[in-house]
Amino acid sequence: MKLVGLVGWRGMVGSVLMQRMQEEGDFAHIEPVFFSTSNTGGKAPAMAKNETTLKDANNIDELKKCDIIITCQGGDYTTEIFPQLRAAGWNGYWIDAASTLRMKDDAIIILDPVNLDVIKTALSRGVKNFVGGNCTVSCMLMGLGGLFREDLVEWMTSMTYQAASGGGAQHMRELLTQFGTINADVKSLLDDPASAILEIDRKVLAKQHSMSADETKQFGVPLAGNLIPWIDKDLGNGVSREEWKGGAETNKILGRGEGFGAGAKAAIPVDGLCVRIGAMRCHSQALTIKLKKDVPLDEIEGIIASTNQWSKVVPNNREASMKDLTPAAVTGSLTIPVGRLRKMQMGGEYLSAFTVGDQLLWGAAEPLRRMLRIVLD
Ligand code: HSE
Repeated sequence: MKLVGLVGWRGMVGSVLMQRMQEEGDFAHIEPVFFSTSNTGGKAPAMAKNETTLKDANNIDELKKCDIIITCQGGDYTTEIFPQLRAAGWNGYWIDAASTLRMKDDAIIILDPVNLDVIKTALSRGVKNFVGGNCTVSCMLMGLGGLFREDLVEWMTSMTYQAASGGGAQHMRELLTQFGTINADVKSLLDDPASAILEIDRKVLAKQHSMSADETKQFGVPLAGNLIPWIDKDLGNGVSREEWKGGAETNKILGRGEGFGAGAKAAIPVDGLCVRIGAMRCHSQALTIKLKKDVPLDEIEGIIASTNQWSKVVPNNREASMKDLTPAAVTGSLTIPVGRLRKMQMGGEYLSAFTVGDQLLWGAAEPLRRMLRIVLD
């Protein structure tokens, strides 16, 4: 059995990965070695077989013994450890959730229900670095991938509504703490049905404006009762790094554009505006898609429904949208609903859509465990 090193398995994405691997019986196919950055020698979790103690995640010699390493430890870990491992001659498979290696020529962005062909071609070429994509991109392609597969997309814009979890576990805690702090400030007024809503609103705003650096340590400003129209670094050209990823990663996943050889199809312009909202762990996106031709809506729905076994068309009506097309409805599920499908006023080639995905599942953990199974097959 292949020796599979697991790093960062205790964090938020890592915990979701462990849960999914157990649900899918992945541990039956591997000899797991659990690594730790802080508790070397400690007891490995119950899924361990022969290696029952935690190994040092910074020990290159220990890591080198693994045939495959899956890490959810984050970008800093990848930046530090990956080059050392390769320099030490390690030739195993590196499966990662961080953005560090994603756009490198010798790395493939993994989302096998969408790009199994790209992954298989890379494996046959001897590629050993496989990296999960940006969560927003992965969730979008899991829902809308059929339209790209049919080469119907001329361009696409994505206006995102991204959950706190995209920032990490501490961001989720901060959001909830902020909600609680604000609520505590107005609770007595809320409990009094005769109180004035504008007085409550004034107090909420005063609390938001007076939040300490500690209360906004993760997001920088209050997110509760607010939104933040910027995610990730400022690239200095009016574009956030999250927005840049939308175009760059979508095309890399699809194997389109420069870098994919003479036969590759041209890159598709994908651009948009990424916004953080106060949802917990589902990223939502409003999409405007310029189709290459005026395809009837029922055909479009058929293509989306057949994208993969997880994509699901939600009827474009109020009741279904409110019930099935929200972060609260989708959290914890692999289903990627796509709804609000309609042709826009601009013409029959302009399609409007809304999609929601659990960013910890398809956006983070799921492609990693599926890549493991592909390598093992
Ligand atoms: N960059 C994403 C976010 C995280 O901040 O929501 C998942 O790639």
